[in-house]
Amino acid sequence: MKKIAVLVSGRGSNMSALHRATKDGRLDAEISLVISNKSKADALDYCKEHGIESKVVKLKDYENRDVYSVAIADEIEKIGADLIVHAGFMLLLTKPYIERFKGKILNIHPALLPSFPGVDAQQQAFDYGVKVSGCSVIFVDEGCDTGPIILQKEVEVKESDTVESLSECILIAEHDTLWRACKLVLEGKTEIVGRKVKIMEQT
Ligand code: GRF
Repeated sequence: MKKIAVLVSGRGSNMSALHRATKDGRLDAEISLVISNKSKADALDYCKEHGIESKVVKLKDYENRDVYSVAIADEIEKIGADLIVHAGFMLLLTKPYIERFKGKILNIHPALLPSFPGVDAQQQAFDYGVKVSGCSVIFVDEGCDTGPIILQKEVEVKESDTVESLSECILIAEHDTLWRACKLVLEGKTEIVGRKVKIMEQT
């Protein structure tokens, strides 16, 4: 069984959606470890309720971000993860971590990259007045939301939308896109060619 490590910082709805996909047979893998950089995170409650191993690893307990990144990488290596998913993980990890797992780290972002990277992406898109937004699943590189794009799903911005209603629609799209991207990568159906991700076969 393929092993997934998930990094979170809060609510954990993407993590739980991914967990459901592993349980109902859409994704042939298991979430073997969840790491949170916050000790108070709803994601951790979900892990306890569902018997998923979880750890809190806080940046402030380490000398600097490189040392922190290595500590996280060591935890992930211990379980022999096939895939790492940043699902609402709000910290950028550095080179020692990225290089160790190159091509194995995914991030879910609530906008159609390269538009609106970074925090508050839904608000940024809403304020800009775009008619279409959505979500992106990318391979993580050293930048902030700059890695090669695996999958995107668009969401129409309706006249009646508020940033809250738009965020809800985007979140539904995120939950349906993340497991599909994980499946493609775990099944070896993606190839990174320069900036592009070649998809061998859509799920
Ligand atoms: C999601 O919108 C994700 O795309 C972004 O942060 C949010 C996390 O939500 N990076 P959750 O913790 O998965 O519910």
